[in-house]
Amino acid sequence: MIVGMDVVNPNIVPGLQGVYFTESKISDVDGTNGKLYYRGYSIESLAKDSTFEEVCYLLIEGKLPTAKELKNFDTRLKGEREIPEPVLSIINGMTGKAHPMDVLRTAVSALPAYDRKAYADSREDNLRKSIALVSKFGSITAAIGRRMSGKGYVKPDPSLTHAANFLYMLKGKAPDPNDAKILDLMLILHAEHSSNASTFSTLVTGSTLSDIYAAVTAGVATLKGPLHGGADEAALKMMREIGRPENTERYINDALGKKERIMGFGHRVYRTYDPRARIIRSTLEKLQNHSSPEVRNLTAIALREEKMMIEKLGKTKGIWPNVDLFSGPVYTSIGIEPDLFTPLFAVSRIPGWCAHLLEYWEHDRLLRPLESYTGPLDIKYVPIGKRR
Ligand code: SDX
Repeated sequence: MIVGMDVVNPNIVPGLQGVYFTESKISDVDGTNGKLYYRGYSIESLAKDSTFEEVCYLLIEGKLPTAKELKNFDTRLKGEREIPEPVLSIINGMTGKAHPMDVLRTAVSALPAYDRKAYADSREDNLRKSIALVSKFGSITAAIGRRMSGKGYVKPDPSLTHAANFLYMLKGKAPDPNDAKILDLMLILHAEHSSNASTFSTLVTGSTLSDIYAAVTAGVATLKGPLHGGADEAALKMMREIGRPENTERYINDALGKKERIMGFGHRVYRTYDPRARIIRSTLEKLQNHSSPEVRNLTAIALREEKMMIEKLGKTKGIWPNVDLFSGPVYTSIGIEPDLFTPLFAVSRIPGWCAHLLEYWEHDRLLRPLESYTGPLDIKYVPIGKRR
């Protein structure tokens, strides 16, 4: 049956839950068994052995690179780190109350003005733009972080990895190698996740044959929401509101009693523990001995939230920890401010968005679902003078 054409009894699926709209070879999210694969490699194996640069190549090109291929890819990434001066002025000019995600979205949407071949649409052109976007998302987000802290722009350092360069541009000094390794891991874990809302939004825009800059701008706008990428910042805000571990149970019970959502829990696909959350949780636990009292306190709260929510809603409603629960304490441990968490999610996810666009454009089909109209029809038009 063609959905929607049956006006008598349309098959409406709220939130498109469980609806397949295309095939993809980029990632598999197994919500029943709590498994995640990028191009067939388990997230655990990539977290243990890979780097963000290598994962970007894997997602976009579809295979792990040889040493020569990775070196060439990395050189191209490093060559794209600089931000066009007018884009830097946009970032520094948005000194009002705009959320950093709005500054990121605005800066990204200005990029095509400084790309001579912005609208060239061959696969090679879109590959070039993908590499530029992966690289620039890091520099732009670091520049936003500097503006937020009232400090001047720090030019990129081509000798550093993507993660280390981000921390260098954000803090203005060479990062602790352990911090850079932790950030590299977080970038890998957030890089791709099938047709999540922001990737879907990117594809809806790309499916009209709009350009890659416009499509990823839509992705940034979508990722911002607290039900999606914004949950990492919201989850940490909740932990700070809880304040002390012993307040956790009362806070959660009050919130659930008011039908509020506990940020960092639940997922449209995972009906068990999010495999990324497991990796982040174990990273956070390894950090405890050399973490600040604040990070240790946040961790203790997160672990009590985890225990309580699994007991109360895990087995009964399939609401388990997701990627955003433990991310905040980890980012805090490497000196990232909460309102930069979601822009950092975008820094991770840009290779996923680009990989899906390149794949979808191979067999493009306009994404245009139906609504079932339930309003009146053929109402008689009344001139304004006769309306009451
Ligand atoms: C990400 O899709 C992806 O892959 C996303 C992502 C990625 O990598 O791209 O994995 C990243 O976005 C992770 C999710 C981050 N969001 C949050 O942590 C926000 C809190 N979580 C939720 O709001 C919720 O779990 C969603 C939005 C993530 C998923 O919700 P669904 O599948 O739309 O389910 P629902 O909102 O219909 O909830 C079903 C029931 C409801 O209760 P009832 O009305 O049936 O009584 O479960 C309840 C909800 O109220 N519920 C929660 C809850 N999540 C769902 N109750 C309390 N706390 C929660 N977190």
